[in-house]
Amino acid sequence: MTLSTTAEPAFAPSNAPPATSRTQVVELLNWRLADALDLQSQCKQAHWNVKGPQFIALHKSFDDVYAGVAEHADLLAERIVQLGGVAPRSVRDVAEASHLDEYPPTISSGEDNVKSLSAAVSAFGSRMRLAIGEADELDEAATAEASTEIARGATNGCGSSKPTSRA
Ligand SMILES: [Fe+2]
Repeated sequence: MTLSTTAEPAFAPSNAPPATSRTQVVELLNWRLADALDLQSQCKQAHWNVKGPQFIALHKSFDDVYAGVAEHADLLAERIVQLGGVAPRSVRDVAEASHLDEYPPTISSGEDNVKSLSAAVSAFGSRMRLAIGEADELDEAATAEASTEIARGATNGCGSSKPTSRA
C-alpha cells in the first residue's frame, strides 16, 4: 500500500532534505505515525476496560500514557507535513499500516492490561529506535532528533509531559 503522498511543500523549510530522500523520510515517518496512532487506541482500550482493585490508579495512568503518545504522534505528523507529505487521515490507513500486535480484546484485569500495554509501548520504542538510524542514513537530522525524543519517552513509559486532568 502507498502510505504517503508527497507534494511540494508550500514553502521550502531550511532544514528539509533533498526531494529524493524526502519521500523516503515521509514514508518512514508515516509508518511510525501509524504505530503511534495504533498505540493511542490501545491506551484507550486499557483505560476503558480495566477492572479490579487498582481501577482508579490504572484508569488514570493509562490515560496519561495516551496523552504522552498523542504528543509523539503530533510530532511525527507535523514533521511529515513540514516535509511536504500527507499524514494518514483515517483509522483504516492506521489499521493497515501499524506494525504493532493487536491489543488482546478480552482482557480486563489490571495485571493483564499493564503487561499488554507495556509490551505495546516497548514495541513502539523499538521501532522508534530503529527510526533514529534510518533517519540518520537519510541525512535527516530533524527526524532523527524527533525519533530520539520519542524513543526516550517510550523508554520512560510514554507518560505525558503535560499534567492531565482527564479521568
Ligand atoms: Fe476517560
